Amino acid sequence: MVLVGKNALVTGGSSGIGLAAARLLADNGARVAITGRSPAKLASVVAELSENVTGIQTDVTSLTDLAKMRATIEQAFGSLDIVFANAGVAFGTPLATTEEATYHRIIDANVKGVFFTVQAVLPLLRDGASIILNTSWLNQVGTPGRAILSASKAAVRSFARTMSAELLDRRIRVNAVSPGSIQTPIHRGNNETEEEFRAYAERIGTRVPLGRMGKPEEIAAAVLFLASDASSYMLGAEMVIDGGRSEL
Ligand SMILES: NC(=O)c1ccc[n+]([C@@H]2O[C@H](COP(=O)([O-])OP(=O)(O)OC[C@H]3O[C@@H](n4cnc5c(N)ncnc54)[C@H](OP(=O)(O)O)[C@@H]3O)[C@@H](O)[C@H]2O)c1
Repeated sequence: MVLVGKNALVTGGSSGIGLAAARLLADNGARVAITGRSPAKLASVVAELSENVTGIQTDVTSLTDLAKMRATIEQAFGSLDIVFANAGVAFGTPLATTEEATYHRIIDANVKGVFFTVQAVLPLLRDGASIILNTSWLNQVGTPGRAILSASKAAVRSFARTMSAELLDRRIRVNAVSPGSIQTPIHRGNNETEEEFRAYAERIGTRVPLGRMGKPEEIAAAVLFLASDASSYMLGAEMVIDGGRSEL
């Protein structure tokens, strides 16, 4: 219970990696606010998790929503010790056919959303707080059809460095987790059956040195480490958790 007495925010905490992280932070004693756009998803997750978890409907691309989120957290918690800026989207963006609207959907959620989430909660952060950004192994490699997604995650990787430098006088550490292919709904097509999704996961797994997609809990473990004092000497850094895909 390394996080007793700590208050945490996990954006996109209603699914996948954010959900696993919210669960682990709460299991370790933190009070956790989770966000997402869908009220139904938030409600079902809050009902499933411990009483230490609160849901706040927020679209991270809306500055109005982010201001409301800050006010709700301020009222409920007073201050924050941990922020996992995780909410994000992923779409293929082939160079020849991608439309402007898709560009904006990705950049708005993954870049603008992360930047303004951190800006919104700055006044609530205690000195010495830990901010964890969710980038991607894609920020390091050239994967066909992923230009905008990869560039959005490279921007997030860069934020960890710049924000750390900017927040140094408050001893606020900003680090990033960099997941490989993790088995979450982000990979799932709208009408895909369980069988089709399993086959997809197996296919992707064959491209990973460890032979499988990752589990959300394997990223959550890194988030817990970065959130806790165990990582007190890390800032501006990136923890890559990708089954060896970007290294071997
Ligand atoms: N899974 C992977 O292989 C992988 C690899 C590298 C990086 N990542 C990153 O990990 C993060 C989480 O992804 P995931 O795989 O856990 O996907 P997921 O299961 O689809 O979860 C995404 C979460 O973000 C929320 N979200 C999306 N857009 C939002 C917005 N505009 N405002 C607020 N919340 C929003 C979703 O809730 P609503 O839909 O209700 O808003 C959901 O809670 C993303 O940033 C993703 O890029 C994932």
